[in-house]
Amino acid sequence: MEVIIKQDAEKVSWEAAALFCRQLREKPDSVFGLATGSTPVRLYHLLGEMAQAGELDLSQATTFNLDEYVGLPGAHPQSYASFMREHLFAHVPVARWHVPDGMAGDIPQLCAAYEQAIREAGGIDLQLLGLGSDGHIGFNEPGSSLGSRTRLKTLTAQTVADNACYFSSPAEVPRHVVTMGVGTILEARHCLVLAFGERKAQAVAAMAEGAITAMVPASALQMHPVCTLIVDEPAAALLQRREYYRWVYENKPAWQRA
Ligand code: GLP
Repeated sequence: MEVIIKQDAEKVSWEAAALFCRQLREKPDSVFGLATGSTPVRLYHLLGEMAQAGELDLSQATTFNLDEYVGLPGAHPQSYASFMREHLFAHVPVARWHVPDGMAGDIPQLCAAYEQAIREAGGIDLQLLGLGSDGHIGFNEPGSSLGSRTRLKTLTAQTVADNACYFSSPAEVPRHVVTMGVGTILEARHCLVLAFGERKAQAVAAMAEGAITAMVPASALQMHPVCTLIVDEPAAALLQRREYYRWVYENKPAWQRA
């Protein structure tokens, strides 16, 4: 896993935007896995600004979002489909975008079809991920099988509390979600994890330097051959090898840079 430590969230977002640009230069019809939450918002806005300036083109790209709340229609303001429209798709035209349908009558069938659609698109080239404060990726809560596929999950009380700020009360946060599995995520060709702030420091350290365990689903990314973790200083605070990561980044050959 490559760990990149940037001074602040703004610089993390710029570094991530550069990786999106590089991916599109190499393959204009790339397939992106996308995330929601507060972490990728600035990155999406940067991509929007770059698209408007003619510096980035997603018009041949396909996207698949990681997850969606069950029971929220796509038009609900807190659905992840609305989030994506607001922060990205309204500003950057993409060829095809997919967010799981939280209102599907047959959830197992929806999940199987989502996996099938990813396969038919040729698999995910670059998968963007945020990190839950409990170490989850997508909505794969602690205890999730590291081989899991897209399926229904029940949120932990901690995740409900973390996400309650987006709803008028914690009681309104749906308890169920559909999420790509850890196994689904691991099949992406490149995984890119972003994390900001002191609140994520423990999860970042457990993910990058702790044992690989279902109790920290993000730790499964240690098994991924091409995983980039970009964090700001507060999120890096508990990394034991942070000076080495800085050293590696400073000495990175030019051809490896985004
Ligand atoms: C939710 C999302 C995750 C996201 C996480 C972190 O649980 N399902 O994909 O990574 O929140 O959220 P934030 O970026 O707001 O800290």
